[in-house]
This record gives sequence, structure tokens and C-alpha cells, in this order.
Amino acid sequence: MLTVALSKGRLLEPTVDFLSRAGIEVPDDILCSRRLIASDATGSYRFLLVKPMDLPTYVEYGVAAIGICGRDVLLEVEPDLHQPLDLGFGRCRVVLAGKKDDRAGNHNLLSTTRVATKYPRIAEKYFRSRGLPVEVIYLTGSVELAPNLELAEKIVDLVETGRTLEANDLQIVDEIVESSARVVVNRASFHVQHAEVKEFLSKLKKALA
Ligand code: PRP
Repeated sequence: MLTVALSKGRLLEPTVDFLSRAGIEVPDDILCSRRLIASDATGSYRFLLVKPMDLPTYVEYGVAAIGICGRDVLLEVEPDLHQPLDLGFGRCRVVLAGKKDDRAGNHNLLSTTRVATKYPRIAEKYFRSRGLPVEVIYLTGSVELAPNLELAEKIVDLVETGRTLEANDLQIVDEIVESSARVVVNRASFHVQHAEVKEFLSKLKKALA
């Protein structure tokens, strides 16, 4: 049996759709049940539902042999995992954003002293590469509140449709990285469960083609 970790939240529905197209049947109730672990009808796969930022940890420690998560998560966590496939769905961007009425706008990153984010590593790298010392404030969600409440001048956050930025009077200042769903494999499992991992990956590749 192959244990596969799936990301809860925005990626879950497209992931389940994609797996089903690949001939891997995830139990029907996985999208609505509160169960965090479920097996398929054939007993070939066991699925774990985990928080996106925790997914690399489950795979790195070998609790799951395989996982599907966003590239944004991999850039933030920097896990030591095999990353064989870009699944193409779940496209979004990690961006730097600030208030719409911030006249300094795009050209004056120097005016930024505090940045709120769920992505402290990506944010620190971005500002370090520009030689700008900023204080990165780590938040776990609702990051768009920070500029309006003056917790920070700017945010580094995920943008998919742009609706959350718009609804909170924020605008993109710069795009940092693009993201989409990626398959990750535990390095030891890649060898120990080679046949099962290979079969799983080839089903996904066929669905991609
Ligand atoms: C993410 C992200 C933005 C929003 C962007 O948050 O942090 O807040 O989605 O999506 P949009 O561009 O389509 O509006 P998520 O929904 O994961 O919730 P969170 O704020 O609790 O982390």
C-alpha cells in the first residue's frame, strides 16, 4: 500500500479530480468528511489530508511516500525531497503587495520596513537579494489585514484570482514566484517502494499527456 499525502484547502478539489482522471480513485467523501485518513476501494492507496505547509514534513519523514503540494510550499519549506512532476493545476503567484493608495508604490521598496507574510523564508530571500533590511512578521492567515491595520507596510502572499487583494484595497507591487501543484516523493521510498511509486507516477504522467 502506498501512502499519499494530499494538501487540504484550495488544492484538494483539483487534486482529487486529477487523481480520478489518472485512474486513482480517492474515496468520494474525502472532500466533505472530517476524516483525515482514508484508503481507496482496492486497498492500493492510503490518503492523508494534511495542512499544506506540513505536507513536506510528512513526506520527508516517510510517513507518506508521496505528496502533492504547491511549489510555493516547497520554496518556503525547502524540504529534501524528490520532485519528479509539475501537475500544472493550482496555478497562482506569490507576490509582494501593498495598499492601493501607497504613493510610493512599485518604485520605493526602500520605504518598506515591515512585511507580513505566511512565507517568511521567501520574503526574507526576496528582500535580502535586493539588499533591503526589512522586518518580516510571520502570520498564519488573513495576511491582507496587515497593511490596513498598519501592522506592516506590505505583505508577501499568495494570489490566485486576485479577489482577496481587491476586496482589501491592496495591489500587487511585484511578482516573486509562480506556483502550481507538484508531486514530491520521499527519497528512501523512491527506492524501497520503487515499483509502486513508478506505477503511481506513470498513471499521473498519462493523465497529464
Ligand atoms: C490564500 C492567500 C490569499 C488568498 C488569495 O489564502 O493567502 O489570502 O488565498 O486568493 P485569491 O487571489 O483567489 O483571492 P487562503 O484562502 O488559503 O486562506 P488564509 O488567508 O486563511 O491563509
